[in-house]
Amino acid sequence: AKNIIKAKKLGRPKQIFSLDRRQKLLHPGKSLYRVLLDSVTLSDESVKFQIIHEKNKILLQVEIYEIEGNIFRLKIDEASPLRPRYKVPDVLIKEPTTQRLFISHREAGILVLSSVNEDYKLQITANPFQVELQSKGETPYVAKKKTKKNPNQYKSHEKQEDLGLWQEKFGSFLDIKAHGPTSVGVDFSLHGYDHVYGIPQRTETLLLKNTSDGDAYRLYNLDIFGHKIHDKIGIYGSVPLLLAHKPSRTSGIFWLNSSETLVDISTKAVAEHTPSRSAAEIAKQRAVPLTDVRWMSESGIIDVFLLMGPTAFDIFKQFAQLTGTQALPPLFSLGYHQCRWNYEDEQDVKAVDAGFDAHDIPYDVIWLDIEHTDGKRYFTWDKQKFQNPRKMQEHLKKKKRKLVVIVDPHIKVDPSYTLYAQAKEKGYFVKDRNGKDFEGICWPGSSCYLDFTNPEVRKWYADQFAFKTYKASTNILFVWNDMNEPSVFKEAELTMQKDAVHYNNWEHREVHNLYGFYQQMATAEGLIRRSSGKERPFVLARSFFAGSQKYGAVWTGDNTAEWSYLQISIPMLLTINMTGISFCGADVGGFIGDPEPELLVRWYQAGAYQPFFRGHSNMESKRREPWLFGEKNTQLIRRAIRERYVLLPYLYTLFYRAHAAAEPVMRALWIEFPGEVETFDVENEYMLGNALLVHPVTEKEAKTVTVLFPGSEEIWYDFRKFKRMEDAGTVKIPVTLENIPVFQRGGTVIPLKTTAGKSTEWMIDISYELHVALDKEACAIGELYVDDGHSFQYLHKKQFLYRKFTFHKNVLSSRSEDSYSTAFLCVLGRFDFYLFFNQSFPPVAGTVRAKSCRESQVVFTYDTKTSALTLENLALSVDADWEICIS
Ligand code: NOJ
Repeated sequence: AKNIIKAKKLGRPKQIFSLDRRQKLLHPGKSLYRVLLDSVTLSDESVKFQIIHEKNKILLQVEIYEIEGNIFRLKIDEASPLRPRYKVPDVLIKEPTTQRLFISHREAGILVLSSVNEDYKLQITANPFQVELQSKGETPYVAKKKTKKNPNQYKSHEKQEDLGLWQEKFGSFLDIKAHGPTSVGVDFSLHGYDHVYGIPQRTETLLLKNTSDGDAYRLYNLDIFGHKIHDKIGIYGSVPLLLAHKPSRTSGIFWLNSSETLVDISTKAVAEHTPSRSAAEIAKQRAVPLTDVRWMSESGIIDVFLLMGPTAFDIFKQFAQLTGTQALPPLFSLGYHQCRWNYEDEQDVKAVDAGFDAHDIPYDVIWLDIEHTDGKRYFTWDKQKFQNPRKMQEHLKKKKRKLVVIVDPHIKVDPSYTLYAQAKEKGYFVKDRNGKDFEGICWPGSSCYLDFTNPEVRKWYADQFAFKTYKASTNILFVWNDMNEPSVFKEAELTMQKDAVHYNNWEHREVHNLYGFYQQMATAEGLIRRSSGKERPFVLARSFFAGSQKYGAVWTGDNTAEWSYLQISIPMLLTINMTGISFCGADVGGFIGDPEPELLVRWYQAGAYQPFFRGHSNMESKRREPWLFGEKNTQLIRRAIRERYVLLPYLYTLFYRAHAAAEPVMRALWIEFPGEVETFDVENEYMLGNALLVHPVTEKEAKTVTVLFPGSEEIWYDFRKFKRMEDAGTVKIPVTLENIPVFQRGGTVIPLKTTAGKSTEWMIDISYELHVALDKEACAIGELYVDDGHSFQYLHKKQFLYRKFTFHKNVLSSRSEDSYSTAFLCVLGRFDFYLFFNQSFPPVAGTVRAKSCRESQVVFTYDTKTSALTLENLALSVDADWEICIS
């Protein structure tokens, strides 16, 4: 493994591919295209017309759609292509429902279209071609068709061979472009915006930077071992969704293209954009921000969705309407995961498992990396180290724990390996440019790569997870898809050559960013199918694309055990969350190297409040189980993990909201406080749901953290001391190693468990508690979602509980939020402990009134120092309606 890692480091050329060189030759501002106004046709679905390139006379077909829910779609393709262009399939969950547009105005060279409700005006300018989309009183978007590559276009500037239009060499690597140059691009101008976010994944700040004097942001999934911090290059996964925000509005651009993509951003101040101005108005003109965004892709068509918001939550819904919502994770997968490259053998697995019990630390899942297989042949076991994997799983199952094993996409070239032999015979591997099975080097040595873009391959792959096919797999085994960018050692940029050939003769360059998406899709499908459709899957993938949220979780790959990587993990996860994938995490402790104990403790404390919570370490790193760093550190890590388990009812409810309503679990502050400019670049703290403000300590030997308490009207409480924070705004808060600075927002109710158990399954009977934090009006609301935690019965039979809690006029009530089935079979804990705080007066009595029950007095304690009121042992049922009146 050591040697391979060295090879990986050497194999990556610094160069960015030719796409950039060609696109940069075109100056923004003036499109070379003109609209043929005679060609305009209007139907119920769309407006269609052609545009012509003024020099080479090439015709392009433009289609504009208004989609229900404040979305516009602009599609541009060649009118008569020599070879059809790739149109990304399988990412949109369905063909979007369109609405009719009307021609509301026509004048020389201009066509104005209106939406049904007249909320939007679309102005198409013929020469040069430009589309301006205006919502009532605003101009959020101007799109100009910038580029459609054609070799002739450059003859006067540079020699074609210099531009690499037909083939390119990178050191010893050759990319033959059999179909010639195919890149596409559009310039967008976002009026009034100077804050843009999104387009993961890279090790970058939350706020995207101006790229005008440097490299563009790149979306090209790559395995970059030991990647640097603050780099615009893309790593592992891509979501081509950019969000733009200003206090009054959020907008989004979703660029549906799976080839190498570059995004150039330039923000400036310009004179205010108003359609008709008098001389006096012009004199008074204000400078307003304008962000220009240029999207460029190496191939495919232009297919872009303009998400009109107007709020960030509307953008999340609009994006989910197109690409789906977060799959509801099985509850166990929200617990703590213990991983390492590698847990050596069955004894090791049992010892680590026992270690958690011996140290009273909860955990749910132990992971096996590549060494558990027979020579990196996935779906097999190393016969020496794992002699009885079924028994090992039975042991874990008795302990109410799970196993995750790695299943990578490369397949060892070995005719005696059934998977290889079958796939070879069926023609399921990606081909090289000469039509032979593409062979590259990965962990097993010489390997072929399954062509997951082929639906038949995906079906066959999904079948490999059937219990009878995957030997010694049981229903506690779940899956980790790694190396699926795909990673190919010793190739250019450590990935598959762009001229490799996939299903239906598409080149790899066209589908590259979809490869991992498809593997995770097939794996999730396999896990669902092995249970005859009953059980929810859990699949972690390293590579991802728009829509990967439907298939499971992702993580940020090979980070390093340094403070700066802990710091950058927060904006990275926030960015992934705002592009639809809530279930994400960073390797706790840092994968590469050895964290000093303080860093490890701080990383556990941060991870406990992030969606996917897994400790992982490299082969060359020292062992890192939580109890190896002395009693004091064990205690601190135990406390952090236990806090995570106590928080699970809230976290699971947030995941339900992500699943049902596309609300991200982890939210950048500006999402919750859209009008507060000082939150727009905050990336060292965030909101978990709408109720918890988390500011992990990410500095070495920190004695204080500087927390921004957003919202002038908000009240904030220390989450553990139940104490109201006295000061507003930016506040220095003292911290010790024990502290995870977490604050509850006034006006919220957070459901928790009263204590942690050995794993999530051990916690079913543990009671709930509610933390009710009052706002200025002495009100609070919150929710609790509960189901069996593992099946699809919540969906098929509505077997779940969804309670809404409100505190209003001194009455806390619980009622049903959704009509769910009464045949909910799982055993539920009971509430026996409540906590209110910030009562403005000491209460004198409390009564409980459960529906159809007599009133009863309850015992309470009231802390005059914190103004916290505690009611204990109420023994109310979770699924009953009740009221508690305080007087
Ligand atoms: C690379 C992954 O990023 C890492 O998490 C894993 O341990 C190694 N591959 C070995 O499988």
